[in-house]
Amino acid sequence: MIITKVHGLSGTVRVPGDKSISHRGVMLGALAKGQTEIHGFLMGADCLSTIDCFRKLGVRINIYSDTVVVEGMGLRGLKNPIQTLNVGNSGTTMRLISGVLAPQKFSAKLDGDASIRKRPMNRVIMPLSEMGADIKSESGDGLPPLMINGKDLKGITYKSPVASAQVKSALLLAGLYADGETTVIEPALSRNHTELMLKAFGAEVSSEGATARVKPCDELFGQMVVVPGDISSAAYFMVAAAITPDSEITMKNVGLNPTRDGIIRVLKEMGADISIRVNERAVGEPAGDITVRSSELKGITIEGNLIPTLIDELPVIAVLACFAKGTTVIKDAEELKVKESNRIDIMVSNLKAMGADIEATDDGMIINGGKPLHGAVVDSVKDHRVAMSMTVAGMNADGDTDLIDAHCVKISYPRFYEDMQRLTV
Ligand code: S3P
Repeated sequence: MIITKVHGLSGTVRVPGDKSISHRGVMLGALAKGQTEIHGFLMGADCLSTIDCFRKLGVRINIYSDTVVVEGMGLRGLKNPIQTLNVGNSGTTMRLISGVLAPQKFSAKLDGDASIRKRPMNRVIMPLSEMGADIKSESGDGLPPLMINGKDLKGITYKSPVASAQVKSALLLAGLYADGETTVIEPALSRNHTELMLKAFGAEVSSEGATARVKPCDELFGQMVVVPGDISSAAYFMVAAAITPDSEITMKNVGLNPTRDGIIRVLKEMGADISIRVNERAVGEPAGDITVRSSELKGITIEGNLIPTLIDELPVIAVLACFAKGTTVIKDAEELKVKESNRIDIMVSNLKAMGADIEATDDGMIINGGKPLHGAVVDSVKDHRVAMSMTVAGMNADGDTDLIDAHCVKISYPRFYEDMQRLTV
């Protein structure tokens, strides 16, 4: 796809529903007693993979425009799947569902696409095995496909080496079935959507700092889930508005959970013109409208506990940093290497091809901003966040940018290009 330079962006956009919350709505809805209605569900390929897996586990799920209705089976009502559960490109589906399947009374096989087959699963296999689970990586190297034979589980206290909501969530879901309390201690707090939603569905969950606990549970109860817009999708518009001269974009009803709002903190520290109107009537997760206008930006250091709160936004933050005066250093972000692609390598090589002064480090990137970008051939490597980040870069580069495999935005934002196009002046 060819991307050309834009001269100002203006208008309002309602980004699609939050991916993490949409996944969890289906999962907890399936495990609950009674019906769960999910409003504002993200109809992206990843969340549809979660629906497909739970349908194969015997759950009736109906889709009405952006509302999903799940007929819950109860915690012990899932059925033995006769087919392999295919998670597609979705790491969240594979890791969280591993926690759901480990304590069942049946066996299941999990697989996914070429990218999933490269993603490390030992991070869930090891702690779940400590709880008593029987999970095998078919090739023996910790990579999918996985075979899970249901077993009785025991509660454990697990000190996770990585701040990962996927690991934490897998253990909390498995912990619902364990014989005692399950505790997960993270090095830094990751997104807490599972804890919040489990509580709303009636589980006994508590959290303190970066520690989350769940008690064994007899039953969850179906709820109405209202999904706010995904701050990770809004991030492309925030950055586009900040770096494109003469721009102003308002993103309506975006999720503002403090475990996800690092991008807002970074934009403010870099000097962006950003204002937020919190929606006092939002149900469940906090939400509000965000307006960003173009302004002068300066480089900063992004590190430590901030990283998990903006982990999926780092590719577009790398683009942002190319347009800031001075140096931006991204540290403590090794996790970027094991996302849908190695996001450090691919963002550095794509932005370098466009003329940026950017270097990869062991745990992040160093970007000397202010060098004008020019069009080039850039590759999404079929990673949706790389595709959207490079689109924002291409919109601010001289000449044409040819983005390879642009269609992968269907994973989290099927109408991304149409929405962005509508805002061009
Ligand atoms: C997610 C957690 C994050 C994030 C992913 C979605 C989730 O992964 O990168 O896109 O919904 O739990 P990690 O928790 O492994 O960092």
